Amino acid sequence: MADKLIIFDTTLRDGEQSPGASMTRDEKLRIARQLERLRVDVIEAGFAASSNGDFECVKAIAEVIKDSTICSLARANDRDISRAAEALKPANSGRLHLFLATSALHMEKKLRMTPDQVFEQAKLATRFARNLMDDIEFSPEDGYRSDPDFLCRVLEAVIAEGATTINVPDTVGYAIPELYGNFIKDLRERIPNSDKAVWSVHCHNDLGMAVANSLAGVKIGGARQVECTINGLGERAGNCSLEEVVMAVKTRKDYFNLEVGIDTRHILAASRMVSQTTGFVVQPNKAVVGANAFAHASGIHQDGVLKARDTYEIMRAEDVGWTANKIVLGKLSGRNAFKQRLQELGVSLDSESEINTAFARFKELADRKSEIFDEDILALVSDESVTNEKEQYGFVSLSQHSETGERPHATIVFTVEGKEVKGESDGNGPVDASLKAIETHVKSGAEMVLYSVNAISGSTESQGEVTVRLQNSGRVVNGVGADPDIVVASAKAYLHALNKLQSKADRVAAQG
Ligand code: KIV
Ligand code: ZN
Repeated sequence: MADKLIIFDTTLRDGEQSPGASMTRDEKLRIARQLERLRVDVIEAGFAASSNGDFECVKAIAEVIKDSTICSLARANDRDISRAAEALKPANSGRLHLFLATSALHMEKKLRMTPDQVFEQAKLATRFARNLMDDIEFSPEDGYRSDPDFLCRVLEAVIAEGATTINVPDTVGYAIPELYGNFIKDLRERIPNSDKAVWSVHCHNDLGMAVANSLAGVKIGGARQVECTINGLGERAGNCSLEEVVMAVKTRKDYFNLEVGIDTRHILAASRMVSQTTGFVVQPNKAVVGANAFAHASGIHQDGVLKARDTYEIMRAEDVGWTANKIVLGKLSGRNAFKQRLQELGVSLDSESEINTAFARFKELADRKSEIFDEDILALVSDESVTNEKEQYGFVSLSQHSETGERPHATIVFTVEGKEVKGESDGNGPVDASLKAIETHVKSGAEMVLYSVNAISGSTESQGEVTVRLQNSGRVVNGVGADPDIVVASAKAYLHALNKLQSKADRVAAQG
């Protein structure tokens, strides 16, 4: 029988560490539900001891997700571990993930600890954690750049203390597939009790090899857990991408001979949800989930695919959630058709009131746009106003005037803690005027470091999706807004980013 490959998703922890990718509690819950629908084995929900906000997120996810194991990261010290265990209490199945750096560079320069001190701390922390929970993962941070002799000593000791999963991070994305695979193989061969733990890979993408390295860790090294994120989201060049690693193992079962429990039909919805929530746009030629991943432009390819699709296709688009019929609904579609389409897209809204709000917004959009695509529906349900998230600022209405030779002027009405306010300003263009109109009230002091507009479904009739990245006092957040009017989409994205700055400020304040 084929071995099982455990899929450990860390979009909500390592993915969120990417500057600008921070998510609110409700956004994380929505993504966690989608990960559960995907049948991810382990969801790393956050780093509970890092802030009160993170603690609450891990706890909330542990309360609602019942099919996946919920994991919290913790530094290898008693305070972090206790805090993580506390947040995981409501989980059906919980895991503590301890980490401590083992490379000479990290021990000396970052931790200012000797190898013997690190060895002792790793051992004691694992013992402490094992008294609180059965499922314990240990990660030697910067493991791939650590001295193998020292690593063997530490890992043998933590397995003896009860660690059930050993993860070998390539923290800085330095590995080469063959070398990384052999590194894990050697550790497993040299450590006498290595068979008492599941071995795991965790690769960063700095040299563009995170997926290749992870697969080599599985094939050569014998690892049976892959740590990954949706769309490869993560710090710097990101982490190993879930959709790529899963589809590689499934498509090349002849080579890997491994079982993966993921329900791949929900991959595309997960990708869209993460990209729309974080504002990290997926490049069109991205494997599996990019807009062009299954598009055949050349005549020879199109002809081949029409005759026999496997001439040029190694995966079926529908197996990862692409639907052949892209025009889905219109003005005359009813609530049931809308609800069914949501189900087909793998979106489940929590309550009838959320469905009603989403349906009302769908009708509004259908009045302005004759064809509603899947992308429009996904953008609509990822808008926080549908999920009744209580936000500081909410969009109400906007009017603006621009004419050749005249300076554009905008008037915007928005809510601040539920109360309507009106702002007016002129600006270099209509978008600039609208955002300045918001700032006449908010006076956030934030600096805009990125502004981008994308057509959701590819034509001028489609909705514009705007991403705004703001920076304030060292914090960076992304806001996203969608609307057929790109000036309105820009105002929504700006308010979304301000809300995130606000909730991030709350988190930091709570931590202090
Ligand atoms: O990259 C890394 O080393 C990590 C660990 C905390 C597992 O994310
Ligand atoms: Zn990492």
